[in-house]
Amino acid sequence: MSILIKDGILVDANDSIKGDLLIEDGRIIKAAAKIDTSEAKQVLDAKGCYVMPGGIDPHCHMQLPFMGTVASDDFFTGTRAALAGGTTTQIDFIVPNPEQSMLDALKQWSGWAEKACADYSFHMAVTWWGDKTAAEMDEIVNKQGINSFKHFMAYKNAIMVNDEIMMNSFIQSRELGAICLIHAENGELVARKQEELLAQGITGPEGHPLSRPPEVEGEAANRAIVFADEVGVPVYIVHTSCKPAVEAISRARRKGMCVIGEALIGHLLVDESVYWNEDWEFAAAHVMSPPFRAKGHQEVLWDSINNGDLSVLGTDHCVFMHKQKANGKGDFTKIPNGTNGLQDRMHLFWNFGVNTGRINMNQFVALTSTNAARIFNMYPQKGSLIEGTDADVVVWDPKAERTISVKEHLQNVDFNVFEGTKVTGINRWTIANGKIVFADGKANVEEGAGKFVARKPFAPMFDNLRTRVKVRQPQAVARR
Ligand code: URP
Ligand code: ZN
Ligand code: ZN
Repeated sequence: MSILIKDGILVDANDSIKGDLLIEDGRIIKAAAKIDTSEAKQVLDAKGCYVMPGGIDPHCHMQLPFMGTVASDDFFTGTRAALAGGTTTQIDFIVPNPEQSMLDALKQWSGWAEKACADYSFHMAVTWWGDKTAAEMDEIVNKQGINSFKHFMAYKNAIMVNDEIMMNSFIQSRELGAICLIHAENGELVARKQEELLAQGITGPEGHPLSRPPEVEGEAANRAIVFADEVGVPVYIVHTSCKPAVEAISRARRKGMCVIGEALIGHLLVDESVYWNEDWEFAAAHVMSPPFRAKGHQEVLWDSINNGDLSVLGTDHCVFMHKQKANGKGDFTKIPNGTNGLQDRMHLFWNFGVNTGRINMNQFVALTSTNAARIFNMYPQKGSLIEGTDADVVVWDPKAERTISVKEHLQNVDFNVFEGTKVTGINRWTIANGKIVFADGKANVEEGAGKFVARKPFAPMFDNLRTRVKVRQPQAVARR
């Protein structure tokens, strides 16, 4: 089956050029100023539209077992919503229970992912350390196609790791050519603050941001960065939400350290006032970690997107129904943490980024797709419009509109943190692996069509780190 996308503007992370794109058997086979319509079975008229690589969301959680319940979007509903929003690949997190083997958890997650209708990959969380962990990490990287390990510095007595485990894992990751991801919040401080607040009678959702102030995130980000630099491993700080965490990332990058910052669409647009809403259900539906912040932090995040300190935009999509959030009535520490964004990320980022002039279209592509592909080593197969690569493409109509609402979204959750937001500039078509899976407002997906994307270690973009670490080896001092 061949598709010709005609008369659009081809936009990638570097350039915007008027042209046509030909797709055949799941691949982009030609990008040129003019391609004859006789070359394709189906022609899509992209006049007035931008043709861009499909989005990559580097941070999602489908049916994650978490805080005594399970996230309500599964790999089918979640990937379907992603495709409707222009995201054609997503990276989920395998989170082994403490004491569970990584390989066992991989089997479990792979089984769940069989029904995905969009391509996906996995990060592996290190949640505990045992005699076999280093060997399992080796197998995960060298035999299972996963080159990224996640570390939760929060969620004490559940999946939090201490400094020793983090260092063990960083050292092994360096040996294996993997990248280390960090949920940066000081879990010890959070736990103490939660206890204090509950003792003071603060039991509602407002206790959530009060127990997780920006300093708690900044301290953890800084600590992880110092450890990673000492070891010589690339580090990626997920869901950077506030000024102190950005400052830690920025300081490190100015010193030449290999630190990547991820922003979330939610933190750019939603502020902490939601937690003081009188409607408990509404406030609880916004509980996620790190929490939405005071407005001033949002400008810092946008500025950091522009100067490159934050170079990837994710969602941390991890949704729970109102009835699941209700587990925390009377105790905010029991409200399952997580909110939506998978279907909305690209629409919102275009509307509040490109339409406002905060970013340009090439930055849009870089942040929603190409940078993640490079960092996690799936470029150019994903995140590009290069001939021979996977035909994951969005045709973007800058004039088309959508009003985001729980009433129209495909995310399997009865709330949307962006409810009522009107966006201009959305995908008219989404093409995944050469098939039209979303057209003019309608998803047409196939359960199980999504494939696992294997990712090799030693991503070329970290080559300079390896050189630098060699140079930094201490020199023996010649003594007389
Ligand atoms: O609140 C969140 N972010 N839930 C998902 C788990 C995590 O911390 O990423
Ligand atoms: Zn997290
Ligand atoms: Zn997450």
